Amino acid sequence: MKKRVIIDTDPGLDDALAILFALGCGRFEVLGLTTVGGNIGLDRTTLNAGGLLAVMERGDIPVIRGSDVPLTREQQDIIAIVHGADGLKGITLPEPLAPASDGASAWIASTLAVAEPGSIDILALGPLTNIAHLVTEHPEVVGLIGEIIVMGGTLNEPGNSGPNSEFNFATDPEAVSVVLGSGAKVTVVPLDVTRKVRAQLDYVEALPDTPHGTLAREVLGQYMQDGRQSRALHDPCVMLLALEPGIFRLEKLALDVDLGEPPDAGRLLLDKRGSLVNVALCVDAERALALLRTGFV
Ligand code: BDR
Ligand code: CA
Repeated sequence: MKKRVIIDTDPGLDDALAILFALGCGRFEVLGLTTVGGNIGLDRTTLNAGGLLAVMERGDIPVIRGSDVPLTREQQDIIAIVHGADGLKGITLPEPLAPASDGASAWIASTLAVAEPGSIDILALGPLTNIAHLVTEHPEVVGLIGEIIVMGGTLNEPGNSGPNSEFNFATDPEAVSVVLGSGAKVTVVPLDVTRKVRAQLDYVEALPDTPHGTLAREVLGQYMQDGRQSRALHDPCVMLLALEPGIFRLEKLALDVDLGEPPDAGRLLLDKRGSLVNVALCVDAERALALLRTGFV
């Protein structure tokens, strides 16, 4: 049986890879892509999401625009250095096959409301703003969510936004706090594991010559520009964990989030009064990379 998922995303090169995998591996039923501002502004993440669906000839999957700005804070400076001024470092995608609509959190709520309770998971690859709107504005559906699997945060690794904060969580710390405390089953996939799942040049070159394998090579080529020999596959780890949690070591931890000022706003804090969430702490990187490859054959 396929896993029924909604992907909340800000594509983004590693988001693009995660989405291509989800569509190509044949093991997910992707109900929709909801978009959020993060790696780049919302107009662009929405366009990129539609373009990725067009590559895969999946105009049947809706794209629904969410929030461009965090719950309460100013948007962080866009990190064009990683994802480029268009979110995909100049990679040209076809035009979306269908227009995007508005109202991501309302759409997720109405989708959950008519589904079998627990049958839909949310895979969150960007700042958690849309999901925070969902749980605050539609509390009646929180109990219907199967699981929210989130790429974000760091525990023992240095941050990539502040010294101890990770980009997605640093962008909207208040949203992290809302989602962790929502009572939904939440699994966090932090930098501690995503930095272990690295694409090396030979892995990238050996990806199959399928249309989406070719695009994945291009995406990874851009991601690894500036002479890097490998790159951490952050967002794809969410998809891999959804399919094969056994590849990861998960632990239940009580977590809080730093709601102070940058640079460490959004930092995860171990706090016994915090929310109990599953956290991926270790990964069998070889198995993870082998599983990822299966999405591109
Ligand atoms: C996260 O931040 C973004 O730049 C990536 O797409 C990923 O979701 C990694 O910290
Ligand atoms: Ca992302």
